[in-house]
Amino acid sequence: MKVIITKNYDEMSATAARFVLAHLWRKPDLVLGLPTGETPIGAYERLVQAHKKGRADFSRVTTFNLDEYAGLSENDVDSFHHFMDHHLFNHTNIKKKNIYLPNGRARDRNAECEQYEAEIRDAGRIDLQVLGIAPNGHIGFNEPGTPFAARTHVATLSEHTRKKNAKHFSGGEVPSQAITMGLGTIMEAKKILLLAGGAAKADAVVATVEGRVNKEVPASLLQ
Ligand code: GLP
Repeated sequence: MKVIITKNYDEMSATAARFVLAHLWRKPDLVLGLPTGETPIGAYERLVQAHKKGRADFSRVTTFNLDEYAGLSENDVDSFHHFMDHHLFNHTNIKKKNIYLPNGRARDRNAECEQYEAEIRDAGRIDLQVLGIAPNGHIGFNEPGTPFAARTHVATLSEHTRKKNAKHFSGGEVPSQAITMGLGTIMEAKKILLLAGGAAKADAVVATVEGRVNKEVPASLLQ
């Protein structure tokens, strides 16, 4: 594991965007795993700028997002799909058919999980998986206690997570469940880039990088 410490959020975002671009230039048909949250917004802005300047062609890129809230579709402003459209997809030339997120509105959620796994498999391995991390150490929506081998599954969100994410909700309650790539799925990516910033994440970062690998800190598996 390589740790890169940056001066501030801007430098972290620029470093992350450069890292993604370097992979895209090397492999134009990159399979990219993507997170939502406040953390990656600066990096997404820079990827959009790079595209506008003609330095980033997403026409052959395939993306797989980590997760989606149960019950929400891309038309819901609170969905992760909407977040991704707004911050990245709508401003690049990525093809809609190459964008994958779990379908939060699927009637049979377990079948949707299996289908998502199959879609990732069919794309070959994820070349680069970008991650954020929550203050409780979760990645995707793999809350503390999630088995390390977990595949894409329906996760029940902790109260801590629902409270934290409520500030991004325009109305109504944060759903109690989500469909998330599992830790085992995430670990199959060829490379993983985790972004973290702010004092609220400090303990989670220390536990992830230097702590004992244990299920209570899902991100510690990255060691
Ligand atoms: C959510 C997402 C995670 C994300 C985390 C942190 O719960 N499921 O993928 O890493 O929040 O979000 P933020 O970057 O806003 O702190």
